[in-house]
Amino acid sequence: MKHKIIVTGGCGYIGSHTVVELIENNYEVVILDDLSNSSEETLGRIEKITKVKPTFINIDLKNVAETLQVFNKHKDAKAVINFAALKAVGESVQKPLMYYKNNLYSLLNTLSAQLENGINGFIFSSSATVYGTPETLPITEENETQRPFSAYGNTKKIAEEILDDFIKSNNAFSAISLRYFNPIGAHESGLIGELPSGIPNNLMPYITQTAVGIREKLMVYGNDYPTKDGTPIRDYIHVVDLAKAHVLAVERIIKKEQDQPLEVFNLGTGNGFSVLDVINSFEEVSNLKLNYEITDRRSGDVPQLYAATDLAKEKLGWTANKSLNEMISSSWKWEQKLRNNK
Ligand code: NAD
Ligand code: UD1
Repeated sequence: MKHKIIVTGGCGYIGSHTVVELIENNYEVVILDDLSNSSEETLGRIEKITKVKPTFINIDLKNVAETLQVFNKHKDAKAVINFAALKAVGESVQKPLMYYKNNLYSLLNTLSAQLENGINGFIFSSSATVYGTPETLPITEENETQRPFSAYGNTKKIAEEILDDFIKSNNAFSAISLRYFNPIGAHESGLIGELPSGIPNNLMPYITQTAVGIREKLMVYGNDYPTKDGTPIRDYIHVVDLAKAHVLAVERIIKKEQDQPLEVFNLGTGNGFSVLDVINSFEEVSNLKLNYEITDRRSGDVPQLYAATDLAKEKLGWTANKSLNEMISSSWKWEQKLRNNK
């Protein structure tokens, strides 16, 4: 029998890759998304890859009554994977209330609708941003969390606290919070990938958009950090590796394998790469010279972030397999395909 999984935000970047992995692992998927940062076209692309069109419901999860209604219809679901959120860090600093409302109302409505319908498994998209500026590296799940500098980041920290309280009040409920490091890359088909709206904040889409000529040049935010080449170090992780971790987390919840009702796992490769490493790797895989310039630091950036990955390996049986060059060449393939409209 196929288990049904509700995927909120399933038309988005990480959600769509996870839906593909779920379908390929024989799950039935119901996507809930308001398409505020994605397109319905993704559903056809998922179908092209998997030969299955997932059920899709266009819903804003901030709406209490509609959320409840949808969950009432799908009370046979085994778990929810909660990707739905706004994620633009800079915008969240300008419009904090919009971020708190969207990311927290939709979380609260989802959990309430789950409670009402006895859907007791939950997987949350968290972020390495909850570690703030870490004092020790690599970052283990034991590292203290800190108040993130942005409202976006703070919605992740608050959401984990809400989950902790909720779980203590409800014996039947179990959850896994996955703290992503820096997801990049795209599906090997080139059919799904990251589609930032407007000017990208993140490094990888900025590089590929510069290379196709949509942006004039990449600004590298600082080369005076205490790192090997002065540029900040991050743990870039292929989105397909990340998606696979969600399937393992779903299995762990369904099979009741958890050590505690709320578990937290870092999802990264454990390898740190600098901004210049990423640019060099891009130039190598694309055979292009990237137009870039070193400029001032960006506020809120930390010098180094990379994950300890032992816990995810031990408990989920998960490790990231894909190299930096593989991540970057898949992002590049996606960008080219997108612009050539193929
Ligand atoms: P995305 O914007 O591509 O996907 C989010 C999806 O949620 C979109 O399809 C959007 O339309 C939908 N959505 C937003 N608000 C909604 C609402 N109120 N009701 C229904 N649908 C709604 O983002 P992504 O990169 O795929 O990120 C997925 C999750 O992972 C988010 O929670 C994000 O905060 C988290 N995360 C992302 C990164 C990253 O670098 N991409 C890093 C750490 C954590
Ligand atoms: C950013 C967010 C983080 C969020 C994550 C995923 C900030 C400060 N942090 O992480 O909260 O969880 O995205 O969405 O916004 N860089 C450049 N030029 C650019 C873009 C980036 O030099 O045009 C550099 C940055 O200084 C950083 C590295 O590239 O050192 C990676 O940046 P980015 O992709 O934005 O990710 P993070 O800053 O790690």
